[in-house]
Amino acid sequence: MIGRLNHVAIATPDLEKSAAVYRDLLGAKVSPPLALPEHGVTTVFVELPNTKIELLEPLGDKSPIAKFLEKNPGGGMHHVCYEVDDIAAALDALKARGATVLGEPRIGAHGKPVLFLHPRDFVGTLVELEQA
Ligand code: CO
Repeated sequence: MIGRLNHVAIATPDLEKSAAVYRDLLGAKVSPPLALPEHGVTTVFVELPNTKIELLEPLGDKSPIAKFLEKNPGGGMHHVCYEVDDIAAALDALKARGATVLGEPRIGAHGKPVLFLHPRDFVGTLVELEQA
């Protein structure tokens, strides 16, 4: 079902400092910050040859990563995103296999349909599926 690793998302309380780690310490290509108010985050994309790292900083008071940062004040890995060909088919298959799906597919931060899967069924890791 799953294909390529699309991105790994890392939540951070300090986007500029975290972008500097990837840019200056690790020598990666780092985008300027991009505010996504409808998703409650500001992001920086780190481009790697085979995937992306997305640094996420909370934006607004209803940010979906605010709770995560309360538990992990220094930041940390928030989710991994795998590509699927068909999000509706993936949803049906996962429900049929008894997995805990969080809500319904919706348009994600890249303008493509995404679906989140509960960490309890996925080795303690929040999983995002994105229709490639
Ligand atoms: Co993501």
